[in-house]
Amino acid sequence: MTSDLTIRELRAEDRVDVCRIWVDGLTQSRLAVHWPFRHWFMQNMQKMRDASLSETGDIGPNGKNLLHTYGGKDDRCMFVACLGSQKVIVGCCSVKKGMDEIKPEPDSQTGSIWRMSVDESYRGYGTATALMAACETWSRKAGCTKMGLFTINPVAANFYVNRMGYTAVDHFHVAKTAFSKLVVPPVFQYEKALC
Ligand SMILES: CC(C)(COP(=O)(O)OP(=O)(O)OC[C@H]1O[C@@H](n2cnc3c(N)ncnc32)[C@H](O)[C@@H]1OP(=O)(O)O)[C@@H](O)C(=O)NCCC(=O)NCCS
Repeated sequence: MTSDLTIRELRAEDRVDVCRIWVDGLTQSRLAVHWPFRHWFMQNMQKMRDASLSETGDIGPNGKNLLHTYGGKDDRCMFVACLGSQKVIVGCCSVKKGMDEIKPEPDSQTGSIWRMSVDESYRGYGTATALMAACETWSRKAGCTKMGLFTINPVAANFYVNRMGYTAVDHFHVAKTAFSKLVVPPVFQYEKALC
């Protein structure tokens, strides 16, 4: 981790940057799909993206719903990574009690990771590692004994497994047809016990 990196909770002024970094981060996942099928895959990714960025989505247009979704809540939190004296936002990650992305699960003892993304220009410097550490600390304080997450992105999977110590416990297909299941990789679920 670079010494001038700060991890803190989301503030109102971060919303546009967080929205941009999350949207840009989706493109890394398309490399998980064989190239002839990437366009088709991205159309499906865009449906998920558009739902999140809609007026009623968890992120909202230009991130306008982010504080409503994550701010001042006991069961979830969003962290941002800020770099340098200008405190440029270079990454984001949210943590929530329970494995459902949206539904409140205040009694769950599992903390789950969502919306992890680091600005492409700042990857490989330990930003995601620092964001994950903040989420795991938050989960411990919230009474969780375990962490969980889902990803289709093999770059992220490598990071979660080899850098952060997570283990694959399950997988499922978003693709519906037998053919699309062959060409689009499954979503893997990962877990890690919190000491
Ligand atoms: C996956 C992702 C979040 C990783 O972010 P990152 O900030 O680059 O991650 P880190 O720097 O903490 O760790 C990544 C690598 O950098 C290395 N690294 C860490 N600190 C470093 C440093 N100071 N200098 C050089 N390299 C460093 C780590 O060893 C790690 O290497 P490895 O896992 O290949 O062995 C990022 O690629 C991303 O935003 N992807 C797109 C969005 C996405 O798909 N997110 C996951 C959704 S589930």
